[in-house]
Amino acid sequence: MTEEKLTIDYQHYSGIEELPASDRELAEAAVNAMKASYAPYSRFNVGAAVRLEDGTVVIGANQENAAFPSGLCAERTALFSAGASYPRKAVVEIAVAGGAGMTLNAEPVPPCGACRQVMMETQVRAGRNMSILLVGADSVYKFSRVQDLMPFSFEKL
Ligand code: THU
Repeated sequence: MTEEKLTIDYQHYSGIEELPASDRELAEAAVNAMKASYAPYSRFNVGAAVRLEDGTVVIGANQENAAFPSGLCAERTALFSAGASYPRKAVVEIAVAGGAGMTLNAEPVPPCGACRQVMMETQVRAGRNMSILLVGADSVYKFSRVQDLMPFSFEKL
């Protein structure tokens, strides 16, 4: 038996303003996408924005339903929309922003496990690392690859 340790590298910014210009643009698109959130049940609004290899930005927002499992998170709404509209273009980055009552949370909102799983397959499909920006008003985390948010992930056999 050996004791093993995993370390995760990520960058911590003090807010959207501190981000490099292209990241700032995607972060702002995610915050803006919160307006398209349909969340009458949780009243928790999440927006996501993905950038494709050619610079195209596709947005998503959480969409809830009275039959609870029928709803979908912002991240998967954006990733599946990108997959449906641009199936041959690699997704290179995703930004996620959320908060209660349409107000951006001070701290970043971490994606759920199901969204991390979809991010992983999106990255495998793209054949290159996909970076992830978790956007809060007072804190932004940047991960340069999905493995850092989801170690030991299940991948297609
Ligand atoms: N939600 C997202 O859209 N993304 C996340 O990363 C976390 C949770 C949504 C699902 C549901 O509509 C609401 O936020 C409350 O969980």
